[in-house]
Amino acid sequence: MKIEFVASASGAEVLAVLVHEGRALHGTGGNLDTAASGALTRAMNASRFTGGSNSTLVVAAPAGVGADTIVLTGGGEAGKFDDLALETAAGAAYHAVKLSGAKSLTIDAYALSAEQAARAAFAARLAAYRFLKYRTTLKPEKTPSIETVKVVAADVTAAKAAYDKLSPVADAVEFARDLVSEPANVLYPVEYAKRAKALEKLGLEVEILGEKELEKLGFRTLLAVGQGSVRESQVAIMKWNGGKKGEQPIAFVGKGVCFDTGGISIKPADGMEEMKWDMGGSAAVTGLMHALAGRKAKVNAIGVIGLVENMPDGAAQRPGDVVMSLSGQSVEVLNTDAEGRLVLADCLWYTQERFKPKFMLDLATLTGAMIVALGLEYAGVFSNSDELANNFLAAAPKVGENAWRMPIPAAYERHIDSPIADVKNTGNGRAGGSITAALFLQRFTNGVPWAHIDIAPTAWVKDSKSPTVPDGAVGWGVRTLDRMVADSYEA
Ligand code: BES
Ligand code: MN
Ligand code: ZN
Repeated sequence: MKIEFVASASGAEVLAVLVHEGRALHGTGGNLDTAASGALTRAMNASRFTGGSNSTLVVAAPAGVGADTIVLTGGGEAGKFDDLALETAAGAAYHAVKLSGAKSLTIDAYALSAEQAARAAFAARLAAYRFLKYRTTLKPEKTPSIETVKVVAADVTAAKAAYDKLSPVADAVEFARDLVSEPANVLYPVEYAKRAKALEKLGLEVEILGEKELEKLGFRTLLAVGQGSVRESQVAIMKWNGGKKGEQPIAFVGKGVCFDTGGISIKPADGMEEMKWDMGGSAAVTGLMHALAGRKAKVNAIGVIGLVENMPDGAAQRPGDVVMSLSGQSVEVLNTDAEGRLVLADCLWYTQERFKPKFMLDLATLTGAMIVALGLEYAGVFSNSDELANNFLAAAPKVGENAWRMPIPAAYERHIDSPIADVKNTGNGRAGGSITAALFLQRFTNGVPWAHIDIAPTAWVKDSKSPTVPDGAVGWGVRTLDRMVADSYEA
């Protein structure tokens, strides 16, 4: 989709104007209504549309208005109109007309700031995301027709400049959503590593470790997960050096289980297809690195993603196996379906040892128990550092992502002690399953400030209520991480 900033709405095919709660037409909308002798107000009064957030009314443009169609889009209460309300209004306008046949949508932001005009364009892009690469017979009437979104801005140059800062974040979210949407027969570890490597075009340095190197380095718990798969395991290390030379980096680690059958502890058939998105944590990390490079962030950052496929096979690991991790701690694998923590254990240890980062933050679709605890709209935040957790928790709501802090009590440590090894990969039956998983990870952090985000609830959505998050792959975490870095860690 093309984005343009224009100085006037004249000649628009479809013009979206903002309406606040109480049918209060905003800016240009008021002028249009006057020019059309109150026709827009009459249309609203004849409908249930009051300007509420995420609601729209599409009307034929009255005489005197230089457009074919008007979309009145709700901004909610004027006093609570923030960036997210604006994003919702722009996204809802897009959805109201995306299948109309119109080729362009013009969004009026004339009375708004340049930053807000840019954000309207950004929101339209996030709203328009669809993964259509495998649809060969999509009927024309089901295919989005909008090819260009134009945003009317009072200061076109300033709006463009503001958009240049936001556009790389939209690129990154789209990139992450594509990774998560891809089926596992296409996006297996080697293919994923190739896509990470291709980000060198943005200025990232990307290193790929294959099985030989991982074996030599001692990534045995990660390799144990992948050993039942014909697909070779990989670790991708992405570096963005936008900060001061020699400054300690910040580090992000992602679970990239390209498909999780459960292994020998196999999952039930029903819903197993969902486990293609068991690499959502790694997609957030890769998306973040894409965003940092795209907007040339002033920070040194490392992204490490552990890429494996968890399959049952003659070569697969067995329940009861004891595996030596990179950290030197032995791990009893009681359930081969608790594989994410095995992948992350080696990645976390490697990251702190090699890069000595200020902090490590991992993201993972780690436990079904997280969904039981928080429902489908919150990710869980586990951390040994209040500062790090608070920086994450401050950023998330600013970009419309929900996160909630969870405890990691030392009293539960005994549930992951093993009689035969240093640690086991399951906890106290179903009790506190997300917490014992986090405690497991913590044993591989070597005391470095660390946060673990369990995104099992939020990586994928089936009934999205947000116009800027279409059903399917969310790209959850890209925006929060980017915002957290910008607000708390950039020079
Ligand atoms: N990838 C799953 C967790 C998951 C479940 C993510 C549902 C998204 C939706 C993870 O590898 C897993 O299978 N965890 C087990 C752990 C258990 C065996 C200790 C779980 O949650 O059941
Ligand atoms: Mn699993
Ligand atoms: Zn998994």
